Amino acid sequence: MNLSADKTVRELATEIPNATRIFEKFGIDYCCGGGKPLQAACRQAHISLDEVLRCLEDAEASLPDATSELDFHNAGLTELIAHILAAHHGYVKHEIPRIKQLLLKVVAVHCAGHPELAGVQRTFHALADELLGHMMKEEVVLFPYIEKLEQAASTGKPAPRAPFGSIRNPVRMMEMEHQSSGSALEHLRNLTSAYTPPENACFSYKTLYAALKDFEADLHQHVHLENNFLFPRAIALEGQG
Ligand SMILES: [Fe+2]
Ligand SMILES: [Fe+2]
Repeated sequence: MNLSADKTVRELATEIPNATRIFEKFGIDYCCGGGKPLQAACRQAHISLDEVLRCLEDAEASLPDATSELDFHNAGLTELIAHILAAHHGYVKHEIPRIKQLLLKVVAVHCAGHPELAGVQRTFHALADELLGHMMKEEVVLFPYIEKLEQAASTGKPAPRAPFGSIRNPVRMMEMEHQSSGSALEHLRNLTSAYTPPENACFSYKTLYAALKDFEADLHQHVHLENNFLFPRAIALEGQG
């Protein structure tokens, strides 16, 4: 049994398949703020620890779906990177123009009655710019280096030379940028009352808020995979070389 309210949210998120979906549902931060014990995280989010534990227990008892989920503990790092690129970088790049388009329409029509929409648009544009630059650094510099590191380790060769010294340096920078994206998401959540459209909202308004909510959930999962699986495993691999 892996379950204990004293374990950190991050530990539970990496140990129990589907735990991240449960944390998402309850609004528990499992990526950048995942270092807190579950008990404290529930108290802070004003939710019942017993209810969360019950859901986690059910998740633990159910078998992981081996066909759809990569085993993030044991998959090769190159495989993990391919998954992050296909499932998350691809999604972010696809959703940014769609959400910007929706924002354009909704802000033009509803901003007078809902002035908070201007802040939603500003915050999303800043987040989008930050994310596109961030992902480019991962795709051009960090991920190819991790792939080379894994290749060298598997053929018994020394670790490749890196322009940035230890891999801990770019990882630290990526984690700081994740933190900044997390703050932007939190701001969006506050501005939109947790992505709840007004009662009389039109279809575009509802579509926009649903898209922003999905964008948030995807980014949490994306950051979780990098912060809690890819980066620590890459640092450990470098340490072996
Ligand atoms: Fe990424
Ligand atoms: Fe990242």
